[in-house]
Amino acid sequence: MTARRPMIAGNWKMNAGPDALHVIEEMVEALTPLSDQVDCLICPPATILAGARSLTKGKPVRLGGQDCHHKTSGPHTGCLSADMLRAAGAEAVILGHSERRTDHAESDALVQAKTAAAGEAGLAPIVCVGETLAQRQAGQAEATVAAQITASVPERAPEGLVLAYEPVWAIGTGLTPSLEEIIAMHRAARQALARRCGAAAADATRILYGGSVKPDNAAAILSLPEVDGALVGGASLETKSFLAIVRAHPMLSRFGSA
Ligand code: PGA
Repeated sequence: MTARRPMIAGNWKMNAGPDALHVIEEMVEALTPLSDQVDCLICPPATILAGARSLTKGKPVRLGGQDCHHKTSGPHTGCLSADMLRAAGAEAVILGHSERRTDHAESDALVQAKTAAAGEAGLAPIVCVGETLAQRQAGQAEATVAAQITASVPERAPEGLVLAYEPVWAIGTGLTPSLEEIIAMHRAARQALARRCGAAAADATRILYGGSVKPDNAAAILSLPEVDGALVGGASLETKSFLAIVRAHPMLSRFGSA
């Protein structure tokens, strides 16, 4: 098995106040000494990517986008291509987040096209999958996620592909699956990925957990060998809580938890 480098990614969603660049500056400073062991990624709104890039230049902290169009250019009002995100400073892009699947009716097929486009532009795609509460209660969680993986990930896995397992019912709710449920799902997700893209690609792909990751549950979740990191929403908006989550990774225990 490949040793996969852990990743902690912050998804800022549609949040960036007037002090947003100051927060990024603070985060870059705090995360830089931790980035030897763990990839730290901040995904702010695209409007501040270029400004943020001037703060991450020469630093190990990376930037990502939250969505991209599947085409490279054209009459698509309000959209951004993967190349544009990359030019603005992104090295990765979150795709198929459940909020986009719900608010913008994004299908698995569209997510797959976006994932391929991101890969072609040299962005690492972070493909999100996850079941609803009704699907979990019906015993369909693993089948749902496996089907999403099959349909959302191109057969030829793009370079740097990351998968994020985010149960829809855990996003922004303070609820999380049990550790046993996370283990079982991450194993099932890797198997589905192996069926789709081959064993080597599946082995190399980081699978993050996302959904109400907080400083107080991060250590338990991040210490699971099946979990290669976290995709963090609300708790990534403030330096203190994001830093506490990164520091909770077992690779960084020497940095203490304060
Ligand atoms: P949350 O969001 O950490 O606020 O639950 C996670 C996500 O949506 O990526």
